[in-house]
Amino acid sequence: MAINKIALYGAGNVGATTAHWLANMELGDLVMFDIFGQVAAGKALDLYESGPAMGFDGRITGSSDPGIIEGSDVVVVTAGVPRKKDPVTGKFPSRDELVKINQDVMSVVSENIKKYAPDSIVVLVTNPLDAMCHVVKHVTGFPRERIIGQAGALDTARYKTFIAMELGVSVEDVHGIVLGGHGDTMVPLPRHTSVAGIPVTELISQEKLAAIIDRTAKGGGEIVGLLGYSGYYAPAAGTAIMVESILKDKKRVIPCAVYTEGEYGYHDLFLGLPCVLGRGGVERIIPMDLNESERAMLDHSAEAVKAVVDVLGYD
Ligand code: APR
Repeated sequence: MAINKIALYGAGNVGATTAHWLANMELGDLVMFDIFGQVAAGKALDLYESGPAMGFDGRITGSSDPGIIEGSDVVVVTAGVPRKKDPVTGKFPSRDELVKINQDVMSVVSENIKKYAPDSIVVLVTNPLDAMCHVVKHVTGFPRERIIGQAGALDTARYKTFIAMELGVSVEDVHGIVLGGHGDTMVPLPRHTSVAGIPVTELISQEKLAAIIDRTAKGGGEIVGLLGYSGYYAPAAGTAIMVESILKDKKRVIPCAVYTEGEYGYHDLFLGLPCVLGRGGVERIIPMDLNESERAMLDHSAEAVKAVVDVLGYD
């Protein structure tokens, strides 16, 4: 059987940590690419050398030449520019400026993916996530099954963590889902959350659940507040389970940013919806019966995504 080839396009905090989880999972050979110096080659070799101690096999290589991604089955994209102060002006870029900066990065990334890995499945992590998915779609022209945004896997993991913390139970027994865009308007769904099948609404008061939902929606900011930069263990773990489900054809149901073509009433917009992930990428979008308030929250989230997508200036 052919060995899977997984590319990490961007070897910063999230890219390298994703490589770390993936190496442990022994899903295939890993190649890392980053434009910054020899960082990809260095991190790849360092990780490769951890194999004997940790007991995993699989080749791990890195380069500052994007050609290293050639023929990859899956390309995980974390390349991008974070929101940080301009060293000269001391100012933060506005949201729209950052969208434009990362649109440029993502255009180059997409050209390279199209050139070197035209049959790959792209798992995108770079923010602003939903808008960056649009850039990849616009430039690569890949079918929607092969452009998958990582957002819900992370947001759901944060949500489950807070519920497990509140109840003092194993995270393994917490089931739930977070839909919508990757931002403050995301839509955690308590009505569809359970602990070993017991509705969470029977276990946690409405007030406490509201606080958990608020903490989930602001989860990224909480980590930035502590670290001074964005988190990477949980984003990388969310990414790794998506890659695993794709390459092992597990058909896990994971909320992902997916291009809508009428699902849930939305069109031509990447939005977080429950997806079945298998060897074909997004193999199915699962419909859910949302009530009026859930629907209103999802609409609100879709509007927020659309406002960022509009900045891209595509038709
Ligand atoms: N090609 C390749 N690599 C690039 C390019 C490019 N055109 N532009 C930037 N990079 C690389 C940088 O050199 C850096 O190593 O992308 C990497 C980004 O890594 P970090 O700055 O450490 O950011 P990280 O925390 O990994 O987050 C990456 O994922 O979760 C999202 O919001 C996060 O958008 C951000 C992305």
